[in-house]
Amino acid sequence: MSVDKPIGVFDSGFGGLTVVSSLVEQLPNEDLVYLGDTARAPYGPRPIAQVREFALQGLDFLMDQGVKALVIACNSASSAAIRDARERYPVPVTEVVLPAASRAVAATRNGNVGVIATQSTVSSGSYDEAFAVARHIRLTKQAAPRFVEFVEAGITGGPELLAVAEEYLAPIQAAQCDTLILGCTHYPLLTGVISYVLGNSVTLVSSSDACAQSTYGRLTQMSLLHHHPREATRRFFTTGDPGDFQGIGRRLVGGFVADVTTVDLA
Ligand code: DGL
Repeated sequence: MSVDKPIGVFDSGFGGLTVVSSLVEQLPNEDLVYLGDTARAPYGPRPIAQVREFALQGLDFLMDQGVKALVIACNSASSAAIRDARERYPVPVTEVVLPAASRAVAATRNGNVGVIATQSTVSSGSYDEAFAVARHIRLTKQAAPRFVEFVEAGITGGPELLAVAEEYLAPIQAAQCDTLILGCTHYPLLTGVISYVLGNSVTLVSSSDACAQSTYGRLTQMSLLHHHPREATRRFFTTGDPGDFQGIGRRLVGGFVADVTTVDLA
């Protein structure tokens, strides 16, 4: 496998761009190819079997681009497809769920960990499995589907979002969680309102950041990272409108979202 190939990053839409941000920070010399299945997003309300089918179609597309590794930058897709993906592709596949769970285990002081995620991630039981060996952890799960809508509309503050955040986070507070996993790659963009509601004593774990760290670790072990500074390329594919993708993507994570092409997966 060649070091010079790009890393493929898959998400249902825009949330995976928070993983791209972390990858750009932590692996600045790597070429990236991103695919957001925006035409079929959100994945969160969809049945797990369908999320798996869509995710494998997206990952197949990225493999066809000649990538050296795949990153499933979506909790819903990771929950549904990680096992199949690791069997199916001859390249390392990293994801968001296990890295976030390991970080939460290290961070918690009282053993009460919360996770907020999409409905499909919560229903899949992926976080229950991830914590199965950590018997001292009491896990509280809460679906927070409207957070995705707010992020995609570019709304990160205001009374309506605050009211929704207070409702979603009430069970986390009631369970006295001292650590909360942002178990959807959209949610790091709502860190402000979430920490405003929960206060400083709750540690927020970004599944996006944890995923980038785990990708760094995996590719270092496999000698697949560039060691020297270089001009890295970043290409973006969407199943939706390229202009919309670039506009929303830039608003969410910044100017590196360029060179956007439409692709038809179906
Ligand atoms: N980014 C997806 C995740 O991490 C959520 C968005 C969606 O529902 O498609 O689960």
